[in-house]
Amino acid sequence: MIEIDNIVKTFSDGKDREVEALKNVSLTINDGDIYGIIGFSGAGKSTLVRCINLLGRPTSGSVRIDGKDITSLDAKHLREERKKIGMIFQHFNLMPSRTVFGNVAFPLKKSGLSKAEIQKKVRKLLEMVELSDRENAYPSELSGGQKQRVAIARALANDPKILLSDEATSALDPQTTGSILKLLKKLNEKLNITIVVITHEMDVIKQICNKVAVMEQGAVVESGDVFDVFANPKHPLTKDFIKTTSNLYKVEEMLNSNIAGVVPEKGEVLARLTYIQKEVSEPLISSVTQKFGILLNILLADVEIVSGSPIGGTVVKFNGESIRIDEAIQYLREKQVGVEVIKDARNPY
Ligand SMILES: Nc1ncnc2c1ncn2[C@@H]1O[C@H](COP(=O)(O)OP(=O)(O)OP(=O)(O)O)[C@@H](O)[C@H]1O
Ligand SMILES: [Mg+2]
Repeated sequence: MIEIDNIVKTFSDGKDREVEALKNVSLTINDGDIYGIIGFSGAGKSTLVRCINLLGRPTSGSVRIDGKDITSLDAKHLREERKKIGMIFQHFNLMPSRTVFGNVAFPLKKSGLSKAEIQKKVRKLLEMVELSDRENAYPSELSGGQKQRVAIARALANDPKILLSDEATSALDPQTTGSILKLLKKLNEKLNITIVVITHEMDVIKQICNKVAVMEQGAVVESGDVFDVFANPKHPLTKDFIKTTSNLYKVEEMLNSNIAGVVPEKGEVLARLTYIQKEVSEPLISSVTQKFGILLNILLADVEIVSGSPIGGTVVKFNGESIRIDEAIQYLREKQVGVEVIKDARNPY
């Protein structure tokens, strides 16, 4: 659906220096994907999405939408192509002097539809975003979540195939964020619309995306299936982002503050176990306990469903005969459980 090929984008900083906002970025986004792009402020995320609809022109490289190279189109054809792409923003960008109805109807002005047809279409869109009862309200009378729903309805007015979302939930509280993300997921499934989600929160990626690209300083440093990236992150930045979504990584902090029960007693081993298999069928912890005659104390647990499969892990304390603990760790690793020893309080033997 979207093929970004070797895009470079440079800005002049107003003096004589140039900022390279995108450095040879290539990405393929398939029909029906919810593709997340994550990175810190200044990474180049907005610059990249603006290249997808040519709100900003790449300095070099090409963008294909549905097989068509849009960087080579004239103004008229580009306008046509842009109708296939809707966009939503962090600050909603609604027109304050128009009602909800007026905002959603606005992009249909030159559509050639009759007044009655426009009315029908707007009402259908408002129903889809669950705002039918606020048709005559003005933006100032709406909550942030409602404003974003209006913006989504407006972005869908021309039946786009692609929806670009640039930090659309960044101004919202977690609960409202959740409901907007659910709505995007529903639209993706019902309308088969391809969605590109820009965010700086890994939680957003985890909740709705099937693919993710991690950006740093104008480059994509890692990309792939969300499950695979979460299960086996390679780049340090990706690891840092994932840590923000799991309590399993709080244990070091707890250890440093000497929180009772976390510090291993003499002979114990404190470790983080991470499940990276799509199917964790064996009840591994209880089988390890029995097989090796040791105790496994679970201190923290965090297992979630990502892209339909469980992912996560536990922080445990191994307690038992030293050699048995080694065997148990070996066994877990053979079963594709990641074992990271955080503190080993055994006597050397
Ligand atoms: N119009 C512009 N003129 C000059 N420099 C720009 C322009 N737009 C972006 N930049 C620069 O390009 C780089 C990438 O900016 P961009 O807005 O794409 O980052 P971002 O990842 O979207 O950040 P944020 O999370 O803060 O929105 C930054 O260094 C920024 O200063
Ligand atoms: Mg941005």
